[in-house]
Amino acid sequence: MKAVICTKYGPPEVLQIQDVPKPIAKDNQILVKIVATAVNSGDVRVRALDVKGFMKTVMRFVLGFSKPRKPILGTVFSGIVEQVGKNVSNFKIGDEVYGITGFNFGTYAAYLAVSDKSVVVKKPSNATFEEAAAICFGGQTAYYFLEKAKVSKKANLKILVYGATGAVGTAAIQIAKYHNAEVTAVCSEHGKELVKELGADKIILYNKEDYTKTAEKFDIVFDAVGKITKKQCGHLLNHGGIFKSVESFEMASEEIEQLNFLRELFEKGRYKATIDRTYSIDEVVAAHRYVDTGRKKGNVVLKISE
Ligand SMILES: NC(=O)c1ccc[n+]([C@@H]2O[C@H](COP(=O)([O-])OP(=O)(O)OC[C@H]3O[C@@H](n4cnc5c(N)ncnc54)[C@H](OP(=O)(O)O)[C@@H]3O)[C@@H](O)[C@H]2O)c1
Repeated sequence: MKAVICTKYGPPEVLQIQDVPKPIAKDNQILVKIVATAVNSGDVRVRALDVKGFMKTVMRFVLGFSKPRKPILGTVFSGIVEQVGKNVSNFKIGDEVYGITGFNFGTYAAYLAVSDKSVVVKKPSNATFEEAAAICFGGQTAYYFLEKAKVSKKANLKILVYGATGAVGTAAIQIAKYHNAEVTAVCSEHGKELVKELGADKIILYNKEDYTKTAEKFDIVFDAVGKITKKQCGHLLNHGGIFKSVESFEMASEEIEQLNFLRELFEKGRYKATIDRTYSIDEVVAAHRYVDTGRKKGNVVLKISE
């Protein structure tokens, strides 16, 4: 089968399309014919081993010393169940699914075998495969951090989303709005229309205004792009307010309930997939170059098959 192999850590050109053996579903697994995946900020970070200081050594232990031990990158997928193991009862051949593999990677490929108990569920019935693949990474991450900040536990929260136009930021706006929060989005001029469409109530353009000077106070400040610190914005928090950042030692967990939640919102028309660009698997190097810019709006989809 066709797969993208990360031959070593480095620039996008280290990625090569190769022919590798097609997996077979074990007794407790399903075999998914992947239709779409996404190139996420986490993927380019792994490919380039783009972490600072001693974390580089830690990541070499975790991922592999000179190249990823699991050479097929990609952590999200949507596709069609092609084979089910003999102990699997919760999926059948032909089911349209979406899922997250996390540190097991392996989604830049034509097929993927995963346990039926892993983070894989039916995709939203009204989503295209591209949309389903696009909503996993940002949606799961935003859900995790906003839940940690107790977004679903209190009514009428005021939330500031810093870096509102990335995969995580676009998801955070929508999840916060679903919980009836008042959302202030901080983004550049290029993202203004997008955040408005997604439901932001107020917008601060970081290239025109200093968001730290706003007179407003917030119950949650969520840095969805990892560019600010609590020291810089702590004064914007109400008493008991919570600051969360994606750039911390806290890793967002991957859970089935997150994907079920996103499916429910999507099917209710309360959540949109923000797709900036779609590339074919053969254009994976170009897709990584684009995500490397750090300027994508929402998500970049990698189409694996028709
Ligand atoms: N801890 C975890 O578990 C976890 C999980 C997932 C992701 N992450 C981290 O979260 C970060 C964000 O991920 P992502 O996939 O959402 O990123 P992304 O989609 O690549 O973010 C790009 C967006 O950020 C905006 N941006 C760039 N610089 C900015 C700045 N200085 N201020 C405000 N906005 C800025 C860009 O728009 P403009 O250029 O127009 O501003 C662009 O729309 C990554 O660093 C990723 O590694 C952490």
